Amino acid sequence: MTSLTPTLSASSNGTLLEVKNLRTHFRTRDGVVKAVDGVSFSIPDGKTLGVVGESGCGKSITALSIMRLIERPGRIVEGEISLSGKNLVTATDEEIRDIRGNAISMIFQEPMTSLNPVFTCGDQIAETVALHAHVSDKEAMERAIEMLDAVGIPDARRRASEYPHQLSGGMRQRVMIAMALSTNPSLLIADEPTTALDVTIQAQILELMKALRDRNKMAIMLITHDLGVVAEMADEIVVMYAGKVVEKSDAITVYERPHHPYSKGLLASIPRLGEHRKRLEVISGVVPNPLNLPEGCLFKRRCPYAMPICDTAPPLQQVAPNQLSRCWLTPDGSAPAVGPDASGDIALDAAAKLSVES
Ligand SMILES: Nc1ncnc2c1ncn2[C@@H]1O[C@H](COP(=O)(O)OP(=O)(O)O)[C@@H](O)[C@H]1O
Ligand code: SF4
Ligand SMILES: [Mg+2]
Repeated sequence: MTSLTPTLSASSNGTLLEVKNLRTHFRTRDGVVKAVDGVSFSIPDGKTLGVVGESGCGKSITALSIMRLIERPGRIVEGEISLSGKNLVTATDEEIRDIRGNAISMIFQEPMTSLNPVFTCGDQIAETVALHAHVSDKEAMERAIEMLDAVGIPDARRRASEYPHQLSGGMRQRVMIAMALSTNPSLLIADEPTTALDVTIQAQILELMKALRDRNKMAIMLITHDLGVVAEMADEIVVMYAGKVVEKSDAITVYERPHHPYSKGLLASIPRLGEHRKRLEVISGVVPNPLNLPEGCLFKRRCPYAMPICDTAPPLQQVAPNQLSRCWLTPDGSAPAVGPDASGDIALDAAAKLSVES
């Protein structure tokens, strides 16, 4: 594929995107919703980060913060987001528009709302191409057809002249991917790109994203509530719960040896081939109301391991060489050395000693 626009290259240490202590809050009439509350992660050039968690954990708001698409009453109240060293939080609107259309592309959760029903699929992709490259209308349309073909749409030339409602859900999602990739981004943010699709189409879309990632050498931030989906595709995984990162590790480790009880619960809810479980184990209870979060560990009301010390916020601690977990349990899953009933300054001191966060 030829590059239409210059993409930002990775910074010298290979980190393309770095998010540090991001806090995005919504000031509502009933109180402050801390949708994203101190989230940090990075994505190296060409790698895939999976972001996992149940609905309402702050995945989309994290993505929209990176794209600087947070609308009032929401606001990034703290933190840094840097793309190849460029701070996106303080960038001007013009700079952000340029980055959004070139270096970063996003596939949104609802494809239908992102496609315009009154324009043909070809016109919509051609318009994106034309916005970002100095090409004639005819060249832009040829490029759009090429993109539709690349994402596996049969008879792309004919399909280009069709309107979104004439296509199936899977085809529409492919059009969205074609549009997102038409600017040859360094980073693709895919927010639950396959949630609305049936399993066969889901597998096809994921295969397609993998192939395009390898061909274009782009980085992907893949958001999903399905740990099984990311385990297959991602290099690293971030598990989010109630606006915080609760576990971060390489994909294989979190899949084979999750530490955080929430990650364990998410994994236990995945049906695995060859296992004949009568009923899938699921995490009891629901994600807490963001306006009524528990003191201490945000997961404690649902956690089968909860102990009195969990009334104090647990540290994000290193539990294996490339694995961090926001939980009081020791790396081998025992109660903390300071004792399961520790409280007050003793618990706070222990948390400060174990924490990898400064
Ligand atoms: N406009 C808004 N006003 C108030 N709260 C919001 C708004 N948008 C999102 N939130 C809250 O932010 C939290 C995270 O939402 P979101 O990032 O969409 O979750 P996810 O994508 O993980 O399902 C949720 O508690 C949600 O209710
Ligand atoms: S800190 Fe306590 S409540 Fe929270 S996940 Fe760990 S064991 Fe469970
Ligand atoms: Mg979402």
